[in-house]
Amino acid sequence: MTEPVIQNPLQAGLVEDQPAQPCSLVIFGGGGDLAHRKLLPAMYNQALDGALPANFAVLGVALEKMDDESYRAFARDGIERFSRQPLSPGHWQDFERALHYQQSSFDDPATYTRLKQRLEEIEPAFGIPGNRVFYLAIPPSLIETCVKNLNAAGLVNPVGGNAPFSRIVVEKPIGHDLESARQVNNVLGANFDESQIYRIDHYLGKETVQNILVMRFGNSIFEPLWNAKHIDHVQITVAEEEGVGTRAGYYDRAGALRDMVQNHILQLLTLIAMEPPWAMKADVIRDHRQDVLNCLRPITRETIDQCVVRAQYGPGFHHGKDVPGYRREDGVAQDSTTETYIALKVFIDNWRWAGVPFFIRTGKRMPKRVSEIAVHFKSIPPILFNADPDHPLEPNVLALNIQPNEGMSLRIATKLPGPKVRIYPVKMDFRYGSTFGDQSPEAYERLILDVMAGDATLFMRRDSVETSWSFIEDILKSWESSHTRWLPEYSAGTWGPLEAERLIENDQHKWRML
Ligand code: BG6
Repeated sequence: MTEPVIQNPLQAGLVEDQPAQPCSLVIFGGGGDLAHRKLLPAMYNQALDGALPANFAVLGVALEKMDDESYRAFARDGIERFSRQPLSPGHWQDFERALHYQQSSFDDPATYTRLKQRLEEIEPAFGIPGNRVFYLAIPPSLIETCVKNLNAAGLVNPVGGNAPFSRIVVEKPIGHDLESARQVNNVLGANFDESQIYRIDHYLGKETVQNILVMRFGNSIFEPLWNAKHIDHVQITVAEEEGVGTRAGYYDRAGALRDMVQNHILQLLTLIAMEPPWAMKADVIRDHRQDVLNCLRPITRETIDQCVVRAQYGPGFHHGKDVPGYRREDGVAQDSTTETYIALKVFIDNWRWAGVPFFIRTGKRMPKRVSEIAVHFKSIPPILFNADPDHPLEPNVLALNIQPNEGMSLRIATKLPGPKVRIYPVKMDFRYGSTFGDQSPEAYERLILDVMAGDATLFMRRDSVETSWSFIEDILKSWESSHTRWLPEYSAGTWGPLEAERLIENDQHKWRML
């Protein structure tokens, strides 16, 4: 690996971060997959990096039969298998002391009384002043009972005054449609103040996604071009190699539109399209993101055929091996019409983006795992180097590579060396790995610290969740009313159906080769 070139990364542009405050973190569903793969390893990495507050404890609450000791072994296993940084025996001993477990069911009020007692025992031993983060890593159907019981047990302190803080973290999906999302938000809102609620969209915690704002507003060269006058179109791709895996129970009722577009991809869109915020304050940034969602042109029954393609993967190949089609996956109905791929053409009806199409595609079982946002600038005038209509110059493209090869590249035209003027498109490339050396922190590392610090910038506010659902619901309703029992199929391991090629070709464009 190339030597990192940055000697002192904090020398400029530092936006003062609020420090994580001493607190207990209660993980409902602490014995589950999310805790095992993501949350516990994220906290361990924060501990290794010295970012966790010194006064900190974890209490996992779940149905699985475990005690403190076996919970520590469970955490250790997750860290050994999934952590960004390897387990270091010296640090581990300190870290494991902070891990505790309570075996309980979520719908029993006694669980919450015990929880309170347990926290009151643990906190003095760790010098924690009663600040608490409740992390709901549980199925959506349990949110209501959990939230109401927390409040009934006196575990939710009001905001303001000198009371220790109580914060709640909620994972997606928030609802299944607009109505159910409102219900979840109503329950949350009846028991917690909006400022105490942290709705996670882990895409917002990805390093490269956070860099979108720095790239746009920390450089002077992009912003003057960042509008309909200079940008031809934008492509957002979130491709996954994996199939539905073991999650058919959830996924078959969700599909790609709900699973990926309603949250992650619309949030990416807001960051690319938002107006310059006037401060790095949570509600300033969130207001500006919200403005973009407010301007999304609704997709209606009349426009859906020109703007949306959905499809499902059929049998195909993955790393050279045969893999089954979606309907043959474990737990999927044999006549399922759930989409595992979706492509959309979206417009943002405001002054900046008038008439600029945003092409979005996401799917499972595609040839590789790759996410990127590509901003395609307009062609230069058809004179001088671009005078030959049979050999048009390729326009500039700024590609933001979100994963896995994180970075950014700009395609520009250059002269090929030699006596004649011949032009060749080249890439100016920046890669996180080669420039900064270290592997970027996982999204959950950043997001958990932000909750402890009380910084809600990278979380979804109620209005954003509901406006996104309202946009998605128009599409769902059009699908329902069309009563389609057939979806285009794409072979597993390919880039999606032909129909998606046509969607973009109708506008004289092509999906990028990734
Ligand atoms: C989740 C979706 O929110 O994001 C999954 O439910 C998807 O279906 C995952 O696989 C993708 O996340 P990442 O970080 O691996 O791109």
